[in-house]
Amino acid sequence: MRISSRDNTQSADSVLVLLREEDCQNLPPFDGELAGILSALVSRKDFTGKKGSLIRVPLVEGCLYLAGLGKKEKCTLSAIRDSLTQGLRSIGRNRGHVAEVLISHLNEYDGLSFALGEAGGLCGYTFDKYKTKGNDYEPFTLTEIFSDVFDDDTLTGMKFADAQIFSREIANEPGCSVWPETMAVKARELADEYGMTCEVWDETRLKAEGMGAILAVGSGSKNPPRLIHLTYKPKVTPSKKVAVVGKGITFDSGGLDIKPSSFMLTMKGDKTGACNVLGIMKGVAELGLNAEVHGFLTCAENMPSGSAFRPDDIITARNGKTIEIDNTDAEGRLVLADALSVASELKPDVIIDMATLTGACVVALGKSRAGLFANDDGLVGKILEASSRTGESFWRLPLEDDEIAESMKSPFADLVNSGERYGGAIYAALFLKEFVADGIAWAHMDIAGVDFRDKEKGVYAKGATAFGVRTCLEYIKELQA
Ligand code: BES
Ligand code: MN
Ligand code: ZN
Repeated sequence: MRISSRDNTQSADSVLVLLREEDCQNLPPFDGELAGILSALVSRKDFTGKKGSLIRVPLVEGCLYLAGLGKKEKCTLSAIRDSLTQGLRSIGRNRGHVAEVLISHLNEYDGLSFALGEAGGLCGYTFDKYKTKGNDYEPFTLTEIFSDVFDDDTLTGMKFADAQIFSREIANEPGCSVWPETMAVKARELADEYGMTCEVWDETRLKAEGMGAILAVGSGSKNPPRLIHLTYKPKVTPSKKVAVVGKGITFDSGGLDIKPSSFMLTMKGDKTGACNVLGIMKGVAELGLNAEVHGFLTCAENMPSGSAFRPDDIITARNGKTIEIDNTDAEGRLVLADALSVASELKPDVIIDMATLTGACVVALGKSRAGLFANDDGLVGKILEASSRTGESFWRLPLEDDEIAESMKSPFADLVNSGERYGGAIYAALFLKEFVADGIAWAHMDIAGVDFRDKEKGVYAKGATAFGVRTCLEYIKELQA
């Protein structure tokens, strides 16, 4: 997508205007013919600015699209971003090639030009590479946008969009095309493209490094596990060192504690944390952010087989702690345990991990809010602040519960990997805490539930959402300020 400033000499085949209900009562000034058409549509109540409404008005030359933002008091930047994306998506699907986007009357919303960039970057995305393109295939045709709010932030917004698409593209791939080594290949390619370093620990190296937890999880699959470490170093000496760690279970069958089929479906999505880390690393490099950023992808395929790890097994993790396996389906916390230990060894200022970790988190918060756990209030404040700008919502859950902590003790080992059903998301977070070195500010994002969508909505296409990429990028971007 190309986005640039509107200068009255370009000719667009589609015009997109976003209006709140109040704007319809008192139309902002638009030029020439458009002003007449708008006031006619509004006075006939063909368009009232109702939230989510989108009308398409064919004109002699081209098409006018009007998108409603609802009442002014309820309108947010996030709603604007969604509406922009929906409007542009509709243009691209209706054979529009060049769009003019008129939104300068919304300039009071901080981040408007940024949102335009994100929407422009995201509107054309769908995961359709496996569909054979027959005669009824309607390609997305929009390639160029002119707008009255374009500025440098728009370009930053587009880079945020690219980072999200990078994550979504891999996350949407099924388990037959992405396994741990595939993730390593993608990471190496990314590193080469941006001059980052990439170190991959294969099964031999994992053994030599004492990574007993990730090895156990990967042991049932013919596709062996990988720990992938990407490093981004900015040109100027950075003030902060951040590690992002993503769960990369390329398919979660549950292992010997096999999932019922209805729960196994969608488990190709159990690698979204790791895909997000790739997206974040791409974004950080593309934007040239001023922080040293380490990205860890902790990848394995959780499969049942004769070589799989078993319930009752006792394994030793990287930091020396022993874990009794109560349930092979609680594998995410195991692969993360080893990765969090390795990340801790770098002594970063901050560690953020992202994982589709527990069904319990989805039960607690639903499918539009992610769980946030942290050992540091300042870090929570900054993440929530970033998320208020990106529109991704997080809800803090407790990282403290004496009874649950007590129940984590095993009679034979240091820890058991899973406990009773109640408080399952807290149990998992407390388990992870055992592998983060003291003194490091750490946040854990449980993105089970928000990582995939079955319906298109706003900035989201069907499939992977890359939820968390925007907020992490925004958090890292603001660190230097
Ligand atoms: N990957 C799942 C969690 C999950 C559930 C993600 C639903 C997305 C949607 C995880 O590995 C898992 O199986 N967790 C178990 C833990 C239990 C065995 C303690 C769960 O949540 O049921
Ligand atoms: Mn599982
Ligand atoms: Zn899992």
